[in-house]
Amino acid sequence: MLAKYNPRMVLKVEPVKCMRGAFRPPSDKSLTHRAYMLGAIASEESVVRKPLEGEDCESTLSCLTQMGLRSERGSGEVKMMPADEWRQPEGPLDCGNSGTTMRLLSGLIASRPIEATLTGDASLSRRPMKRVAEPLRQMGAEIEGDTPPLHIAGTQLRSITYDSPVASAQVKSAILLAGLRAHGRTMVLEPFLSRDHTERMLSALGVPVTQTKNNEFISAVDGPARPVGFEFLVPGDISGAAFFMVAASMLDGSEVDFEELGINPTRTGILDVLTVAGAEPKYEHEWVELGEPVANIRIESARDLRAFEIGGGLVPRLIDEIPALCVLATQCEGTTVIRDAKELRVKESDRIELTARGLRAMGAEIETFEDGLAITGPTALHGATIEAQLDHRIAMAFAIAGLVADGTTEIVGAEAIGTSFPSFEAELRRLSS
Ligand code: S3P
Repeated sequence: MLAKYNPRMVLKVEPVKCMRGAFRPPSDKSLTHRAYMLGAIASEESVVRKPLEGEDCESTLSCLTQMGLRSERGSGEVKMMPADEWRQPEGPLDCGNSGTTMRLLSGLIASRPIEATLTGDASLSRRPMKRVAEPLRQMGAEIEGDTPPLHIAGTQLRSITYDSPVASAQVKSAILLAGLRAHGRTMVLEPFLSRDHTERMLSALGVPVTQTKNNEFISAVDGPARPVGFEFLVPGDISGAAFFMVAASMLDGSEVDFEELGINPTRTGILDVLTVAGAEPKYEHEWVELGEPVANIRIESARDLRAFEIGGGLVPRLIDEIPALCVLATQCEGTTVIRDAKELRVKESDRIELTARGLRAMGAEIETFEDGLAITGPTALHGATIEAQLDHRIAMAFAIAGLVADGTTEIVGAEAIGTSFPSFEAELRRLSS
């Protein structure tokens, strides 16, 4: 049985028996951000169907509106009428809690003759922006601030080849989007392949994109180029679905059908891990939306959960799912080891630290490293009070931990869930029995 948010936004979770039913996850956050941004630079009008209505994507839409995008909301869709030239925003652009908004918009602003100041909440204000400021400066933009607020003076940029030290789709996308208005080939090399939504969508919209994904991970655009208008139905978010995938895997007698789920291979690391852990996902139907593969997937409870390993190129394919996978690890036989995941320390919170602190409070056996965690299970968890610290994924991961813990788990700061998954609690309640 699940309780409700109280006025202090504390989510109280009690244990449940299992998860059953059909579930259309919230629409993909990364794809909704990109659809809004591409709609704002396209040569024609566009329609985004089933956009994510979470706060992060609303921040993107509102920033774009301040620079001239006109949009109309219909039932379950947003129609976008792009301005031919973006206008100078009158005030600061508030990116809220959203790193994707700030980093990708930086690339779009830097490549236009406008100046803008980008701000964020307390969590975003601590996050590193040098990773986008540096390459955009190399392209010719003037950027003040290596953490928010960022002040950007855009201009006619030059194309560059950038060897990114981190596998980050936000960095890669900021540079590629900036490259759309530079002359020549703008190229990004990364140590491992990060999510390639920007490349797939641009390519589906007529922009020349080159990708190499063998021993080297290179993405490039040839500018100047402008995407055409589009209609796009945003698939379900595997990062939102992840919490329910983990819950279904852990709770005996569970069976959940995930409908219209985005299964871009750069995002499906969790499905590989679930297979190793013993909860084999079953693909039921597959199709493509604007270059993005989509499927219906069924997950049933696993008979015996086994420990797993995460490292190297798998990390960017499941980076946002690691807090939920740590919860799963507490119920697996053996020691799960997660390495090469230092990026977790600069997400909406230090996720290595908060995951370890919370799981320890619930009775788990857990060790941390600078770049990861080791968790030995299975452990019987008990309820505890968890501080989510403006991090939606921490809040949701611990809500799922509460489903298998004895007693009550209280998530303080559960309002953060609204950034990516406003209907989380309602879906948790609906699918639980
Ligand atoms: C995102 C990319 C990832 C991810 C974030 C969304 C995106 O960040 O963690 O939630 O939309 O491009 P990095 O690319 O910085 O790792």
